[in-house]
Amino acid sequence: MTALGVFDSANLNGGQKLAMKYFAVSLALFGAQVLFGVLAGLQYLFPDFLYGVIDFSVNRTLHVNALVVWLLYGFIGGTYWMLEDEADHKVVGLGLGNLIFWVLTLAVVVVVLVYLLVQVGPAEMKSIWLINEGREYIEAPRWADIGIVVAVLVFFFNVVATFAKGRYTGIGGVLVMDLLALAGLYLAGMFYTPNVSVDQFWWWWVIHLWVEATWEVLVGCIMAYMLIVTLGVRRRIVETWLYIEVALMFGSGILGLGHHYFWIGTPQYWLTIGGFFSALEPVPLVAMVVHAVFDSGVHRLKNSNHPALAWTIAQAAGNFFGAGVWGFMHTLPQINLYTHGTQWSASHGHLAFFGAYSTAVIAFFYLAAQKSRGNVWMSGNLAGGWKWKWSMAFLWMGMIGMTMALLIAGYEQSQIERAIEGSSWVGYFTAQAHPWFVQAMKWRQISGYLFSLGYVLLVWDLFTIGKRETRPIAELHAPSAQPA
Ligand code: HEM
Ligand code: HEM
Ligand SMILES: [Fe+2]
Repeated sequence: MTALGVFDSANLNGGQKLAMKYFAVSLALFGAQVLFGVLAGLQYLFPDFLYGVIDFSVNRTLHVNALVVWLLYGFIGGTYWMLEDEADHKVVGLGLGNLIFWVLTLAVVVVVLVYLLVQVGPAEMKSIWLINEGREYIEAPRWADIGIVVAVLVFFFNVVATFAKGRYTGIGGVLVMDLLALAGLYLAGMFYTPNVSVDQFWWWWVIHLWVEATWEVLVGCIMAYMLIVTLGVRRRIVETWLYIEVALMFGSGILGLGHHYFWIGTPQYWLTIGGFFSALEPVPLVAMVVHAVFDSGVHRLKNSNHPALAWTIAQAAGNFFGAGVWGFMHTLPQINLYTHGTQWSASHGHLAFFGAYSTAVIAFFYLAAQKSRGNVWMSGNLAGGWKWKWSMAFLWMGMIGMTMALLIAGYEQSQIERAIEGSSWVGYFTAQAHPWFVQAMKWRQISGYLFSLGYVLLVWDLFTIGKRETRPIAELHAPSAQPA
């Protein structure tokens, strides 16, 4: 092992080396997401900006697809990161895992280039195969879809085979079942039907069931590991919570799918089913907050990695507010009738994705930064610690600013476009021209700049944190030090 505080990949096990590659691409795509978000936001203010160069539709596609892909890279990285520790065995099929990483990354680059180079064209089967499948968030053309499925199957194989050869843990068991569901659901967004209602019906299986069921469970698993590593929480406690959360999550999240079936041409009973079950969805999120606060309290916040723990707590809170509170606000059909598809949805979409998932991936970035420098102690008074604190502050100020601005715009649209003007064409434009809407878009943009500043600081910090630190962390927190 090299000196403490020096970046060296020899400090990492095989799975963690592969995870670092996923994290690097994930961080870069996060940057791309922020960039295209800023451009799309500017086009709200100056509709001619970059018209014909990068159209709004393309900016938006890149913004939301980069989001999905960087989070998936972060999750795959997070899983490889903990795999050897958890299974107490070397990653099986690591060579194949490495190969697939390069293939997948190359595919991502090609897909992005094609989005940029072919911005308009006919809607034919050829476009679906080669350019864009046209399904929001998962727009990748079909050739890439198939590639993604193969890549995910290899990843799945590596995880299952490693746990099979190593030891069984509760976290591992839940993780394996969850990855199977996550990969399987992707197939629902891959076939073509000319009927838009049918198409949307299946597309939501991926989108809703991913973020409100399988992603939540995956994050539950990796955050459970995170609590063991950063706080040294007892495995029995984290795993008990995990089982409770998973049961609640699937209990409410699966039929909660109905909140997307209100107005797309599905039978009326979905109003009742969707309203009822999705109203229950905040319950598991409360359990996750209680869990994190409880664990931190019991361990008196004595932890070895302050930035990672801070982002872990931010994850519990962000998930609760973004998904739970902001989701609940518009989930009853009586309310959703007015709010559907307004900036209200975007307000919730931003806070939920950032709160529940970006936070978790950032926490892992910090875990990775720590171990690559020989497991240095990342205490509150770490040298250069202002950077992680300010980056976190700017990211959150930016995100809260954006969320609030969009919420105000959404309220205004629901009131003027929907309630007063009765969803008419004129109402749509009246609402968009209203000062409350226009000002909200300006505030969203300003908040977006704050957020971007936070991102730049984050990158700088990740590359430098722990550099001058020479205190090691106690080995007490190693997950393998605890019985399964
Ligand atoms: C971390 C978990 C979640 C994420 C990442 C998330 C994200 C999103 C996003 C991006 C949209 C917009 C989809 C579109 O493009 O049309 C959306 C819509 C919606 N979400 Fe969530 N959500 C989460 C959890 C929840 C929860 C727990 C609830 C309910 C309690 C909820 C209720 C809704 C509703 C009702 C809509 C439809 C909005 C409309 O009618 O336009 N979400 N969500
Ligand atoms: C610099 C910061 C950002 C800016 C300026 C920005 C701006 C935008 C804009 C203009 C849209 C298109 C809205 C529309 O179609 O009307 C959008 C959509 C979206 N953004 Fe961002 N964004 C930023 C950061 C983020 C972050 C950090 C996340 C999540 C982690 C995120 C998640 C989303 C989602 C989920 C949508 C789709 C929402 C929906 O359709 O309801 N954005 N963003
Ligand atoms: Fe949903």
